[in-house]
Amino acid sequence: MINFNEPTLVGKELDYIKDAVTVEHRLCGDGKYSHKCAKWMEEATGVSKAMLTTSCTHALEIAAMLCDIKEGDEVIMSSYTFCSTADAFVLRGAKIVFVDIRPDTMNIDEKLIENAITEKTKVIVPVHYAGVGCEMDTIMDIAKRNNLKVVEDAAQGVCASYKGKALGSIGDYGCFSFHETKNYCMGEGGAILLRDPDEIEQAEIIREKGTNRSKFFRGQVDKYTWVDKGSSYLPSELNAAYLWAQLEAADKILNDRMEKWKLYYELLSSSDVLKDRIKLPFIPDGCTHNAHMFYIKTKDLDERTRLISYLRSKEVNPVFHYVPLHSAEAGLKYGRFSGEDRYTTIESERLLRMPLHYNLNLNEIEYICNLIESFYQEN
Ligand SMILES: Cc1ncc(COP(=O)(O)O)c(C=O)c1O
Repeated sequence: MINFNEPTLVGKELDYIKDAVTVEHRLCGDGKYSHKCAKWMEEATGVSKAMLTTSCTHALEIAAMLCDIKEGDEVIMSSYTFCSTADAFVLRGAKIVFVDIRPDTMNIDEKLIENAITEKTKVIVPVHYAGVGCEMDTIMDIAKRNNLKVVEDAAQGVCASYKGKALGSIGDYGCFSFHETKNYCMGEGGAILLRDPDEIEQAEIIREKGTNRSKFFRGQVDKYTWVDKGSSYLPSELNAAYLWAQLEAADKILNDRMEKWKLYYELLSSSDVLKDRIKLPFIPDGCTHNAHMFYIKTKDLDERTRLISYLRSKEVNPVFHYVPLHSAEAGLKYGRFSGEDRYTTIESERLLRMPLHYNLNLNEIEYICNLIESFYQEN
């Protein structure tokens, strides 16, 4: 079977884990490897501070606390996203206001955001689907005029940019994922990026179980204690050591994914059989994507279901995701849709993600593209 995903292993991951255990003698967080990863992210994105977290979900939870979300506050986002985008705010009592997506990028439709704002709105959460940037100039302008915070869900956006700015570095807070399905991974993991240096101390306290232990480790206080609300959001050095090997090889991984993404695109876009039958990803001007995902869009749900069975019968495992949150059980309880669901449901039913990972080879991509062509020839 050609797997949809396999976690990336580029070379030095196991050496660094061994070093963390046998030389550094450190398994808990915030040692040598966590610091190397954080510094790398700060240099790559230009933010004041990057901190590794145990997941992007947890980075979003920290961001929700930094936004001081309270019972009844409203948070605007698209419904075509992973549940954590919403859940992190719901945990603090927010109501989620879903806005329709743009069918070309599957990102929030920036033109519909202003209509969804009420006196209770506190935050806008743009999700950069497939590592393709949302229309951030418009979103930042709306946020500024309405005094709202912006939390970028850049779970899929590491090493992608919008008008030259790294995704995750444009809003007040950016959240990365290093889950094993992402371009750079550490098993489970993520990071929060902060633009404002004045918020670093509060973020450190939230991430360190409500204590000022980070200050203690820097020698700025002589003992540490419980100072505010927080939780346990720092990953082990074992995970950070794995990630550091990947960040050191970030260009190699990116180039590898890009070559594979481009091959899919070239083979599928040049096929006469597929012309007008499937839709391919669209990258707006000003966006540099990171080849996180290669998807196609079929005519409708029925065609997608048949294509999945066909590909699986030929040992290829494509996947789809995100039942739109507004129609999920929790979404009905904790959210509402603003305006019309013109594209979210229909477009989500058409989207199918193709295998894309470090171990996938170019012949396998040719094989998959030939199969897609055969399916449409026969149907
Ligand atoms: C858009 C988006 N946000 C958040 C997450 C959550 O990331 P994590 O698994 O690191 O918590 C994901 C995971 O797939 C995601 O795709």
